[in-house]
Amino acid sequence: MTAEKDQVRIFDTTLRDGEQSPGASMTLEEKLQIAEILDDMGVDIIEAGFPIASNGDFEAVSEIAKRSRNSVIAGLARAIHADIDRCGDAVKHAEKGRIHTFVSTSPIHLQFQMNKTEDEVLDIITDTVTRSRNLIDDVEWSAMDATRTPIDYLCRCVEAAIKCGATTINLPDTVGYATPDEYKQMFVDIRNRVPDADKAIFSVHCHDDLGLAVANSLAGVAGGARQIECTINGLGERAGNAALEEVVMAIRTRGDVLPYTCGVDPQYLTRASKLVSGASGFAVQYNKAIVGKNAFAHESGIHQDGMLKNAETYEIMRPEDVGVKATSLVMGKHSGRHAFKDKLRELGYELGDNALQDAFRRFKDLADRKKHVYDEDIEALVEDEISIASENTRVIALTVIAGTGGPQKAILTMDVNGHHETRECTGDGPVDATFNAIKAIIPHDATLQLYQVHAVTEGTDAQAEVSVRLESGGRIATGKGADTDTLVASARAYVSALNKLALRQQGSNPGALKAS
Ligand code: KIV
Ligand code: ZN
Repeated sequence: MTAEKDQVRIFDTTLRDGEQSPGASMTLEEKLQIAEILDDMGVDIIEAGFPIASNGDFEAVSEIAKRSRNSVIAGLARAIHADIDRCGDAVKHAEKGRIHTFVSTSPIHLQFQMNKTEDEVLDIITDTVTRSRNLIDDVEWSAMDATRTPIDYLCRCVEAAIKCGATTINLPDTVGYATPDEYKQMFVDIRNRVPDADKAIFSVHCHDDLGLAVANSLAGVAGGARQIECTINGLGERAGNAALEEVVMAIRTRGDVLPYTCGVDPQYLTRASKLVSGASGFAVQYNKAIVGKNAFAHESGIHQDGMLKNAETYEIMRPEDVGVKATSLVMGKHSGRHAFKDKLRELGYELGDNALQDAFRRFKDLADRKKHVYDEDIEALVEDEISIASENTRVIALTVIAGTGGPQKAILTMDVNGHHETRECTGDGPVDATFNAIKAIIPHDATLQLYQVHAVTEGTDAQAEVSVRLESGGRIATGKGADTDTLVASARAYVSALNKLALRQQGSNPGALKAS
């Protein structure tokens, strides 16, 4: 008889710890899309944000809570009444809501960050967990910097939290310092020593500063934890959090030594990865496990030979298991509207009539310029079209004069809230000239934080996908643009980032950008 496998809950914190990573902030629309895919893929708990942090965060958590269908929706709260109450207000809309409250427990945090004694922190735990439980039944308590907390004191903190009704106890490796053996032992010790430890579910939460986040997470589970906190693409503070896709595929692929199950459907992993990378502006490294472009590519002759004879010679997972579709040559310039619509549906896009019309026109245009049009090309084009459709300010025409002679010049026409504006500017290179022309049409004080170009497919006729990150008054926004012309893609990405910044600064009026 095979032993029943233990269920491990997957707690996704892409929208909270992930979004906390500098430069990764997302719009409400992007957060809603990510939450929807997380809910669809079977994530048990979605940490949707930090409601006290801003009105935008509160709105995002409330809206995700209202729309949730299967997942528990959690919000984060410091050990402060105002935080807990605000969090309770945001998650109360969910069918299943959770307040996740935390306090630091390590000596270094107590001394330098909180200026509190151990006994004072114990009182705070009692007070804040009790307050949370008075608002909601599902309460998670976290001991921030647990891995640098003396075990005796950590036991007292966990005991206090459980006594006051915490249903989940999270012991984070906040600074990514632990090794797998240590982390596992911490859970074994705490679960052995704390009275009523079996009344709570224990959770791991690991940061990747030493590249050990996934290994530590699995070690914590071996020590008795049954919830893993993680993020899509490993997004998160500093080196990031444990990557959800790695944790899920490790559990699925190595069931022989990891006797657990989790409810996540891996078919969604590739789409979720692309969505998060697009929204956050954080590109996924080519050799990233599970979701990197090269994760299933076999270049060397020996590998290819083995793969042709039997895929299992070098492949421990099949690309289709994680939702990678075999790259297909889709269509050319003779493909009709009907075939294009079918292809969009297959890729998961359902566009309205006008958007379909615009996307089809751009597809025809692309097919004229590019010999082979692949699924990835269509995805990039449609994503670009979707973002343009929501913007009242957009690029209409761009001509750039570049080359060794200098100075490089850009002549740009934009539609700004229905009015066409044209400017001609020079710059230190063609990209600089293009961005100067945008600035001449829409004066702004935003500074460029990131400019990144990547080719959607192979070849010199490939579409360029450009990410631009802008910062203004502490707010950050990332825009993307795609085109076979890198400068057109750059202009679109810059304008998209400006539109997002305007949305954040002036509420929800997308027409907020003003021409000079
Ligand atoms: O890393 C950490 O300790 C955290 C807590 C807020 C759970 O993110
Ligand atoms: Zn964290």
